[in-house]
Amino acid sequence: MPHTAIFPGSFDPIHNGHLDLIDRACRLFDRVVIAILVNDQKKPLFSAEERIEMLRELLADRPRCQVERFSGLLVDFARQAGAVAIVRGLRTAADFDYELPMTLMNRQMEPVLETLFLATKRELGFVSSRLLKEVVALGRSVDELVPPLVARALEQKLAPRT
Ligand code: PNS
Repeated sequence: MPHTAIFPGSFDPIHNGHLDLIDRACRLFDRVVIAILVNDQKKPLFSAEERIEMLRELLADRPRCQVERFSGLLVDFARQAGAVAIVRGLRTAADFDYELPMTLMNRQMEPVLETLFLATKRELGFVSSRLLKEVVALGRSVDELVPPLVARALEQKLAPRT
């Protein structure tokens, strides 16, 4: 039976750390659904449509990947998608502290759905969407940390005009 995993997140925007984890999840599962959280209360920089478009373009050459949006509970989305696991990345102990209560709550609601943590690539362990946005807004480039398409999109939205 083919196995599906969910890789959920805000992806505001996606960066090389996410892409590395997605590639590694694709080696473990037959299908990986990249699930973009749509929650306007979080005031994302990129709209849901912009994030979906970016992810679909970036993942177009990965046949195991499928990009979808979701709102509401992740476990409900995972069940509808027929997933056996949620995949999350861990960079630091702070990530673990943030993730564990969510994982236990998800298990409380959906006991057979496993959460799998993949340790980030060491050289990308400091990369977060929040810091990328801060750096671009303050005038520096993040070209080495995101795909070119994302670098351009960040600059269009945030780079200070001279
Ligand atoms: O990239 P992020 O913002 O760290 O991703 C967080 C995400 C989307 C995984 C988390 O906020 C989530 O699962 N939200 C959906 C709502 C939900 O299921 N809440 C209960 C979690 S215990």
